[in-house]
Order: sequence, then C-alpha cells, then structure tokens
Amino acid sequence: MKVDVVLGCFYGDEGKGKIIDYLSQKADITVRCTGGNNAGHTIEVDGKKFAFHLIPSGVLNKDTKAVIGNGVVIDPKVLIEEIEMVKENGYSVDNLYISDRAHVIFPYHIEMDRLQEELRKEGKIGTTCRGIGPSYCDKYERCGIRMGDLVNKRFEKQLRKNVEERNNVFNLYHHQTVDIDEIIVQYTKYAEYLKPYVTDTVTLLHEAIEKNEKILCEGAQATLLDIDFGSYPFVTSSNPSIGGICTGSGIGARYIGEVYGVIKAYSSRVGEGPYLTEDKTEVGDLIRELGHEYGTTTKRPRRCGWLDLVALRYAVMVNGITGIAINHLDTVGKLDKIKLCVGYKKNGEINNKFSTDEDYLKDCEPVYEEFEGNFGDISNIRKREDLPEKAKKYLNRIEEIVKVPIAFIGVGAGRECMIVCNK
Ligand code: GDP
Ligand code: IMO
Ligand code: MG
Repeated sequence: MKVDVVLGCFYGDEGKGKIIDYLSQKADITVRCTGGNNAGHTIEVDGKKFAFHLIPSGVLNKDTKAVIGNGVVIDPKVLIEEIEMVKENGYSVDNLYISDRAHVIFPYHIEMDRLQEELRKEGKIGTTCRGIGPSYCDKYERCGIRMGDLVNKRFEKQLRKNVEERNNVFNLYHHQTVDIDEIIVQYTKYAEYLKPYVTDTVTLLHEAIEKNEKILCEGAQATLLDIDFGSYPFVTSSNPSIGGICTGSGIGARYIGEVYGVIKAYSSRVGEGPYLTEDKTEVGDLIRELGHEYGTTTKRPRRCGWLDLVALRYAVMVNGITGIAINHLDTVGKLDKIKLCVGYKKNGEINNKFSTDEDYLKDCEPVYEEFEGNFGDISNIRKREDLPEKAKKYLNRIEEIVKVPIAFIGVGAGRECMIVCNK
C-alpha cells in the first residue's frame, strides 16, 4: 500500500484540508509533516466550519489515526486549544500521536518573529507572526527544544540559555522581553497535558506500512512558499513541497504513491511577494468576496487573481504531481469571464519559463486565455460529465496544458461538494 500525499501548488489556502478530509475516509493514518500553526485548514461538515492549524484534518474521521510528524513546529498552547475544540465538538482525540522529535515554539520565537518583521520595514515578508521562522532557526542552530524534551522535562537548561540570548537582542531594540520563570511554569503544565500523545511517530508509521495500512500525508503551506523552491525570501521557513513530506514524517521516497497537487480555479496569496497573475482591479475584489478569501489563521484579506499554468507546471515538476485537485470551480463559475494564464510574455516573446526572481518577473506579463463563466449552480453535481460545457472547456484546457489529470473537483465548501474523477 503506497503512501499518498496532498500538497499545495501555489501560495497556500488551496483547500488542502477539504481534500484530506475526503481522502482520509479511506485512510488509516493522516500525517502533518511540515509547518506549524501558520497553517489554517478549513473543513465544512454539515454546515459547521472547523479550522485546523496543527492537528491533521483527518481527525474528524474516527477510524483514522492523526499524526503530527517530526517536521512540524508546535506551539503547545495552540495545540491544546485545538484538542479541546475537537473534543467539545464531540470528536475523539484518542487517535492523536505527536512526534517526540517535533520542535516546540516558545513565546520568544513569537516575539522574535514580530521584531524581525518590524525591522524589515517595507521589505517585510508578511509572516503570520506565529514564531515559525525563529523556531526553525533554533532547530537548525541545534539549540531547539523538542516535544520529547518538553514532556520529559529536559528543557529548562537549554531554554534559560535561549531566552537569555534572545532577551539581550530584545533589549537592544527596546522590544519587550519574555519572562523565563513564567514560561517554565506554563510549559510544564503544557508538558503534562501533552505527554500521553507524544511518541516515536517514525516507528509508528513504519509499523503501519508493514501492516499494509493506508497513510495519507497532509502538506501545509505550498510549493511557492517553499524555502528552496518558492519566491524567496517571501516564503515560509520549511519545505512544504514533496521533500518535506519525507523528511517531516520519516517516510522514504520509495513508499510514496499518488501526489495530489491542490489548486483553486483561481489563485490567491496572503503576505508579501511577487504574484504575477494578481488582479488588482474590482474583479480581484469580487473573487475575494465570492471565495470568502480571508485568512483562516490571521483573517487578513487574501490577494486574489487568476490561475497561473506556468507556475502550476513548475509545481508539477518540482513535486512529481500525479493528479490535480481543483477547488472553487463553483466560485469562478459565478464570474462572467474567467482568465487562465497560459504563458509569460517577456521582451515581446511568449515563454513558459517559471521564475521566482523578482527582476525576471518585473517586466513579465501574463498571457491570458479567456473562458465563459456563469456556470449556474454546480454545487450538487457529482460527475464531471454532468458539468456545464463551459466548465468542462475550462478544465480540459488546464489538463491539456499541464498534462496531469484532474483527480478531484471542488464545487462548494462542504465536505460533500466534491467530484471524484475517474482515472
Ligand atoms: P488550505 O489551507 O489549503 O486547507 O485552505 P483554507 O482552508 O485556508 O482555504 C480554503 C477555503 O476554501 C476554505 O474556506 C474552504 O472551506 C473553502 N473551499 C475549499 N474548497 C472549496 C470549493 O470547492 N468551493 C468553495 N466555494 N469553497 C471551497
Ligand atoms: P496553509 O497551510 C497561506 C505565508 C505567510 C507569509 C509567509 C511566511 O493554510 O495553506 P510564516 O509565518 O510561515 O513565516 O510566513 O508564508 N503562509 C501562508 N499563506 N497559507 C498558509 O498555510 C501559510 N503559511 C504561511 O502569509 O507570506
Ligand atoms: Mg489555509
């Protein structure tokens, strides 16, 4: 049994949570592999909205184990709130497992994230200020504290050292410092709460592979936010692309089966950085309103625009995507006209070379094909062949250019609003 992967192709918020929720009905385990509570994955079940920041979106399926892998950075306060939210809604968290190797986010990481953003001034990244970057920095500086250290109360000495160093920096910039004793008291309580969930998830996953169980990996963020493959420096501090799935779970490349790349039928970005197909006119505003494009995590309005097939081909190439999941077909279907970027024009020539280099992109122009919108209500359609011809034309053109089949089509926010395509 191969391990399937769901990951984002662009700048996040493509609807990965919804695809995971659907696929996890047939999975034994779902695994979050990278990022932290910068992610916000929304699932709508019976009209109720759930937003997951750390717990894998498969948790609502009671027969599925939910694993937070070693590549994730965990803010224990946020995780405990999320566990409580799941329980309050009548779902079980008995099946939650947290890697002992996942790194812990502390208040000084969050303060450092805020200070760094302040100091970047107009060059700011627009981070979620959740302490993600600084906590990965500690990991790679080899002074980080892991979940195993936290729950076994082996963290005080290292934490005191880290806090002292960071408080020196905060003092230098007249930024608020953090209180080490308060943190130790707080985190000792978090450790007691979380201890039952913390385990060696690498072994757990490999035992499942040996038993031929179905594992599903849930990507967070997306390819163009990847620290290596994204629009650096306007990226997150991890590898949300396929490599991060392996290193963030301990699952080797040979076990990977389907790699589903999630996109929307339009595009969005939250935070700073280049975005060639952004629509800064009232049409972009209309897409934001129709698609309810406000951040799940930070509530920021998302920048909106058109689907960029040059970028999608790049994401397909970098991740080895085997199937596309396209959400929000219903949303673009409410527009009169839909634009699809099929190439970039530079120095009078049309090419399909994707680049994240701002200088290269500066005088690049998207080349658009236009499609008819006004699909009518498609939210109850469950077969691709039953979609209106106008919608089929749009989807067929995407497949024709990208040369990867569409596997799932989202026609509404609800769990049931999904078309599963035949291979
Ligand atoms: P993620 O971070 O990739 O999981 O995506 P988010 O949850 O941040 O954002 C996706 C948003 O689109 C959520 O509000 C979903 O409920 C919503 N959504 C997902 N698929 C569809 C769809 O096919 N149609 C509509 N109308 N909404 C969708
Ligand atoms: P999901 O999983 C959209 C963006 C931030 C910022 C940049 C760096 O819901 O798709 P960070 O706090 O990670 O240092 O911020 O990355 N970003 C996301 N944008 N969806 C996400 O996650 C994101 N996670 C980070 O807005 O531009
Ligand atoms: Mg999101």
